[in-house]
Amino acid sequence: MSPRERLIIALDVGSAEEAELLVSRIGEAGVFYKIGMELVYAGGLPLVRRLVGEGKQVFVDLKLHDIPNTVERAAAQIARLGASFLTIHAYPQTMKAALAGTAGSKLKVLGVTVLTSMNDKDLVEAGYASGVETTVVHRARQAKSRGLDGLVLSPREVAMVRGVVGNHLILVTPGIRPKGSGAGDQKRVMTPAEAIAAGTDHIVVGRPVTEARDPKAAVASITADIERGLGERKNAIAAG
Ligand code: C5P
Repeated sequence: MSPRERLIIALDVGSAEEAELLVSRIGEAGVFYKIGMELVYAGGLPLVRRLVGEGKQVFVDLKLHDIPNTVERAAAQIARLGASFLTIHAYPQTMKAALAGTAGSKLKVLGVTVLTSMNDKDLVEAGYASGVETTVVHRARQAKSRGLDGLVLSPREVAMVRGVVGNHLILVTPGIRPKGSGAGDQKRVMTPAEAIAAGTDHIVVGRPVTEARDPKAAVASITADIERGLGERKNAIAAG
């Protein structure tokens, strides 16, 4: 996988026109884009097919969770659009249904273990018996045993989850901030190089690109940082 493919650019903008303008400004440097709820609800779903038609990879971040029949059929529809990644909440029924709906397609299903906005207190308030770390490990184990393709998690959880799932699952981490850019509402951030060195496969970056004066230059600089992270990872492996 090339360093460029490791960077997933979150198209968190309010219209398909704005998203297309951003994609054209970034040009060849951007190969993988994430389309989430904001853009989909603003009429951006047809953009999935358009980007795929231009040779880009698309991550549809809709975090599905419903009764199995609905999840299976919704996942099958997204597979038809030609997307590469789809998120679901990593509940056993939902994982099984999404895998059934995407069987035979190239769409990979990624599970959200615990939303990174939740802490132990939030989980107790929602009626859970365990805290974040225990729940993340529990769900990562289930995801692996049920054959899920990957997980979305905080960069701080990557090393721990890699220890649980080995190299069987694709790990994707948002909460990334290049040196010198503001954290915004992200609380536990890492730089692209740090997250890649920690063992994640893909990083998701939104505002540091979408709000940059020169998005193309921002993408180039993040990609260079990813290369540094890959170098560090290689050196760490070589050092044992
Ligand atoms: O602008 P920023 O780089 O913080 O954007 C991160 C993207 O990753 C957003 O689209 C956000 O919805 C998504 N995301 C996240 N944390 C998660 C799951 C998804 O920030 N746990």
